[in-house]
Amino acid sequence: MKKILTILGARPQFIKAAPFSQAVRNHFQEVIIHTGQHYDDNMSRIFFDEMGIPKPDYNLNVRSGTHGKQTAQMLKGIEEILLKEKPDYVVVFGDTNSTIAGALAAAKLHIPVGHIEAGLRSFNRKMPEEINRITTDVISAQLFCPTANAVSLLAKEGIKNEVYLCGDIMYDAMQHFLPVSKERSKIVCELGLNTGGYILFTMHRPENTDNINRIRNIFKALKNVDIPIIYPVHPRMRARLESHEMESIVSNIPMLRVIDPIGYLDMIALEKNANKIITDSGGMQKEAFFLQVPCITIRNESEWIETVDLGYNIIVGADTDKIVEAIQSFDPVHEVECPYGSGDSAELITKAILSYLN
Ligand code: UD1
Ligand code: UDP
Repeated sequence: MKKILTILGARPQFIKAAPFSQAVRNHFQEVIIHTGQHYDDNMSRIFFDEMGIPKPDYNLNVRSGTHGKQTAQMLKGIEEILLKEKPDYVVVFGDTNSTIAGALAAAKLHIPVGHIEAGLRSFNRKMPEEINRITTDVISAQLFCPTANAVSLLAKEGIKNEVYLCGDIMYDAMQHFLPVSKERSKIVCELGLNTGGYILFTMHRPENTDNINRIRNIFKALKNVDIPIIYPVHPRMRARLESHEMESIVSNIPMLRVIDPIGYLDMIALEKNANKIITDSGGMQKEAFFLQVPCITIRNESEWIETVDLGYNIIVGADTDKIVEAIQSFDPVHEVECPYGSGDSAELITKAILSYLN
């Protein structure tokens, strides 16, 4: 049996790994490296436990640091394991520092890399993720695109070989785990919320968390909201939220309820029952779309343009008036076709890897 080595490290990658590992293990031996980029229990372990993701064979425990330091430590650790394990193929997901470290280590050792979620672009090179995506796409042997738009963006950059339109693997995860969430998650009830009676809010991108003016503008828009605003806070923002400066901002928002990060089953339950989602998360823009919940994106652009073009996502940046207006009146009601595949992305990717390695 050929050996696939899968590299994970951050929360959204665990979610993508759940359907992938299940499909790939029918045909290959899988070895998993967790870089340790995310390490708190509620940023890592909870996903393995509740989504049945196989326990990683290696954990590099790299944890947090500057981009250079964090990526370099991953690169070093991954290279050592690749030399020892000698896999036939390496899989990376998305656009984090764990993605580029895995792809770079493997490509330099002439091990073919498969990039899941290839071809996404925000055209904003100030985002670390944009650098990670572009470089990973260039050095990957196979590119698994979630959308037709991603395929055409790669073509414009001259990347046309071994490019596959496979649908979005997060849609596989949603289809599989939504019924599980309905059965197991009690969070809506535990937080005393009513269906459609609250806003779900997340914010973790440095462009927001590291810019006090954007924070002020975004939080100002939440001031007059008269239903609960549930905010599972990413650790990047936790310390900042507790600062003196933030205390005065947050204390002005009576409906804001800050909670710790939650697992995927609770998250999709909160998403499904929300009146609206306000977020800068990539994954949550799509999940809002899958669940047809209106999404207000507090960024200046989105990689997931289908969600915008099809009317379920509105880009408002950090503009207070636009956010307020969207909270009050953004209300898409039409049914739309899903451009993210049929929930069989993990199967299609596995098939493409099989044919590549045969
Ligand atoms: C990373 C990804 C981002 C992705 C996000 C998903 C990069 C460059 N960024 O951003 O694309 O959207 O993950 O959530 O790879 N921290 C903890 N505990 C943890 C993890 C992080 O306290 O378990 C804190 C640390 O203070 C750390 C900060 O959060 O410095 C940021 O973590 P890091 O992994 O560097 O970036 P993310 O913002 O999580
Ligand atoms: N998520 C979660 N719990 C949380 C916040 C997010 O399970 O407290 C899930 C969310 O449903 C989505 C993924 O994590 O599947 C998105 O991760 P994140 O927003 O951290 O990163 P991004 O998608 O922006 O890279």
